[in-house]
Amino acid sequence: KRKTNIIPKGFLWGGAVTSFQTEGAWNEGGKGPSIVDARPVKEGQSDWKTAVDFYHRYKEDIALFKEMGFNAYRTSISWSRIFPDGEGEPNEEGLQFYDDLFDEMLANGIQPVVTLYHFDLPLALQKKYNGFASREVIELFDRYARTVFKRYGSKVKYWLTFNEQNLVLTNPEFWGVSLEGAENEEALRYQVTHHAFIAHAKAVKSLHEIVPGGQMAGMVTYMATYPHTCAPEDTIANMKAKELLVDFYFDVFAHGEYPTYVTSRLQQKGIVPHFEEGDAALLKENTVDYLSISYYQSQTASADLTDESALISGITPNPGLKTNEWGWAIDPIGLRVCLKDMYARYRLPIFITENGIGVREELNENDTVEDDYRIEYLSEHIKQMKIAMEEGVDVFGYLTWGSTDLISSGGQFEKRYGFIYVNRGETDLRDLKRYKKKSFHWFKRVIETNGEEL
Ligand code: BG6
Repeated sequence: KRKTNIIPKGFLWGGAVTSFQTEGAWNEGGKGPSIVDARPVKEGQSDWKTAVDFYHRYKEDIALFKEMGFNAYRTSISWSRIFPDGEGEPNEEGLQFYDDLFDEMLANGIQPVVTLYHFDLPLALQKKYNGFASREVIELFDRYARTVFKRYGSKVKYWLTFNEQNLVLTNPEFWGVSLEGAENEEALRYQVTHHAFIAHAKAVKSLHEIVPGGQMAGMVTYMATYPHTCAPEDTIANMKAKELLVDFYFDVFAHGEYPTYVTSRLQQKGIVPHFEEGDAALLKENTVDYLSISYYQSQTASADLTDESALISGITPNPGLKTNEWGWAIDPIGLRVCLKDMYARYRLPIFITENGIGVREELNENDTVEDDYRIEYLSEHIKQMKIAMEEGVDVFGYLTWGSTDLISSGGQFEKRYGFIYVNRGETDLRDLKRYKKKSFHWFKRVIETNGEEL
């Protein structure tokens, strides 16, 4: 008897991107500058002004996504398209852009999955308030969130608050925060982390008030870590690293309170994040509907427990794994490890909202890219996801990072992720024409067979 497919009907398949890595049109339609636009551009690398010109070409791209069979596509809303300086009145042209975009997706059978914030704070809020270091920005974020929930609530069911919120402690600059001049840098990092939790919980609350049935995620980038050796000390180091890098966030998202492994550590350091009245209750009452991860790679943790930065620097490459050109270890089983651990701990549905491999690629003489390595990478990860599901984990969607090529987070265009090649170079925009790679046809078949044929 043929085994039934573990992947249920209605499973979400598609791709994931952000506004600023695809849209371009950085100063069109009334958009204000964001902190990404103000980032210095490295010599020889792309700026963010055009990206892949999705702002003007989204109909063409969505037609290709439809051809692949996508039923979901994740992007972020650019906050500064909606509120150009983060305050004041919303910009109708920006609101209309996402209305048109989401309508086009829906008309093609693709449901939008929307990230509220993907590291692109309106620049004005960085200058005026030092970003999320200030409680004011939490209120402005909530105002922005409520505005888009009201506007798109009938079109969007699945939302994410912050992309990869677990980066806030190590990279507060992604939340528009400068640590310069801080009396106690570490205390400020934890305060910003607290503000991100509060802003997140407020958005959960607002979504549930405004959009009946709206589903909100907490998201982390989940880099699997293993003990570097079988020494017990390495296992403890690995637990501590994981607590700091992953569990802290999921625990607050899912259980609505700070875990004791964090509060005890903070106490020892003499750091007391400032909780305003109502913060604890807000966190407790506004836990998430599902959990979301990006997954790319794994590393190992070795025993060096003197402090948090030593712990983080104790995270080292896994000598047994192959890497991509950027040194990211390729580890499909690591995805299964993450999924199983998350589900055992939280029992919440899981949405994989990023997985993929960046590669330098050029069109061949047949105007395509034979990207067998990408097919292999994705198919091995999907296989491990399916095993996790067979072992009882509830995963309801899988989105690859990119669909067309797009600018990488570090500002490189040559690190390509797409099923669809975009004809542009690092700084030479060429004609921005789209070409199907071999993986385009492969992923189409994966979706057609609901993951049976890999
Ligand atoms: C994720 C981010 O961390 O990884 C994306 O959410 C990013 O913005 C993606 O592009 C891939 O990383 P990179 O550095 O290769 O672009």
